[in-house]
Amino acid sequence: MMKDLFDRYYENKGPLGKWAELAEGYFVFPKLEGPISNRMHFKGKEVITWSVNDYLGLANHPEVRKVDAEAAAEYGSAYPMGARMMSGHTDLHEQLERELAQFVMKESAYLLNFGYQGILSTIDTLVGKDDVIVYDVDAHACVVDGVRLHLGKRFTYKHNDIESLEKNIQRAQKVAEQTGGGILVISEGVFGMRGEQGKLKEIAALKGKYKFRFLVDDAHGFGTLGKNGAGAGIEQGIQNEIDVYFATFAKSMASTGAFIAADKEIIDYLRYNMRSQMFAKSLQMQLVKGALKRLDMVRSQPEFKAKLWENVNALQNGLKANGFDIGKTQSCVTPVYLKGSIPEAMALVKDLRENHGIFCSIVVYPVIPKGLILLRLIPTASHTLEDVNETIEGFASIREKLENGTYKRISQVFLAAVK
Ligand SMILES: Cc1ncc(COP(=O)(O)O)c(C=O)c1O
Repeated sequence: MMKDLFDRYYENKGPLGKWAELAEGYFVFPKLEGPISNRMHFKGKEVITWSVNDYLGLANHPEVRKVDAEAAAEYGSAYPMGARMMSGHTDLHEQLERELAQFVMKESAYLLNFGYQGILSTIDTLVGKDDVIVYDVDAHACVVDGVRLHLGKRFTYKHNDIESLEKNIQRAQKVAEQTGGGILVISEGVFGMRGEQGKLKEIAALKGKYKFRFLVDDAHGFGTLGKNGAGAGIEQGIQNEIDVYFATFAKSMASTGAFIAADKEIIDYLRYNMRSQMFAKSLQMQLVKGALKRLDMVRSQPEFKAKLWENVNALQNGLKANGFDIGKTQSCVTPVYLKGSIPEAMALVKDLRENHGIFCSIVVYPVIPKGLILLRLIPTASHTLEDVNETIEGFASIREKLENGTYKRISQVFLAAVK
C-alpha cells in the first residue's frame, strides 16, 4: 500500500534527529553569542570557545571587520548579480583568483560559492562514467556526496592506509583499462575530526607506479600548515603532485566561499563545465573583498600562524602531560578520547559548559565507535595560555567524574526523568 512520503519522517527522525528532544539547543543547534573570539556566551554564561574554526583569529580582527563593513557599504550584498559566466564576473574576482593561485603555487584558481557544494561539483565535473574514484573512507561528507554523483565505479581505501590505497588503485586500474577511463584519488590535507594529516607524500609517491590524478581537500590545512599557511601540500613538500587543490574560506579565512587551484587548462575546463558555478550566483563582492584582505593578512603576517601554533602546542602538550589520549593528531585539530556512553557524554559536556565554562564539540557513535566519546577542540590564535590552562584543569576534573561513575549516575536520573 502506498504511503504518504512524510509518514516515515514522523516515525523515524534519523540517527541524530532521534536525540532532538534531549539535545536541541544544547548539544545540537546551540547558540554561541557575542563577537567571535576565544570567549563567547552560551545561555548567558561566558565560555571558552573551542569549537569555532577561526584558526588565525581573523573573524573579528578590526582591520578585517573594517574591510567587510566598507565593502558591504559600497556594494551591498547583491553585487554582482548572476552566475560568473553570465553577468556575475568582475576584476576583483579575477584578482582574488590570481592571488590565491600564486599563494598555493598553482597556475590558476577558481572561486566557489561554498566549499561543500563546490567540491561536490568539482568531483562531478572531473569524472565521467568510465572513470574510477578511489577515496579515503574518512573523507568529509562533501567528498562522499561528490562521489555519490559519480555514475562510474568508486572504491574506498582504509583511512590513511597506503597499502589499502595501493590495492584499490590496482582494482581501479583494472576497471579503467576496460572502460578506457582514468583514475581520481581523493584525500584530505588534514582530517577534520581526528586531526591527522593525509599521507599526501606517500600518495604522491604512488604516481611513480600508477597513473592517477590527485585531488586534495585542504579545508583545515590552508592557513594552518606550510610556509605562511599555504597548506598541507606545501608542508609535505608535494604541492606539485596535487593536481586539484581545494580549500574553503570557512576556517582560517573566517568567511564564506572557497576555491580550487590547478593547472590553467584544468581550471579553464572547470570554469566552463562546473554546474555549481555555471548555474548559481557569483560570490558577492563583500566576500571577495573580504577574502582579498584576509589572504593578504595570512600571507604577510606570520604572527597569526605562530600564535595559533603556540596555543596548539600548549594545549596538546598539556593534555598529553595530564594523561589524556589525543590520538594521532598532526594538526591544530585536537581530539580528546574518553570512554563512555552517549548519556554519560551528555552529562559530561553539560558539566564542562555549566561548571567549567568550556565549550567544545562532542562527537559520539555513529561517527566514532560505540563506547567512545570524542571531545574536539579547535585552538585558534585568539586563545590565551590562561584559556589553555583553565581547560586542562576542567578536563582533569571531568575525567575523574567520568571514571568514578558520577556521570553514569547523573545520566540515569536524567534519562528516567525524560521517560
Ligand atoms: C574538510 C572539509 N571540506 C569541506 C568543507 C565545506 O566547506 P564550506 O563550509 O565552505 O562549505 C568543510 C567544512 O566547512 C570541511 O571541514
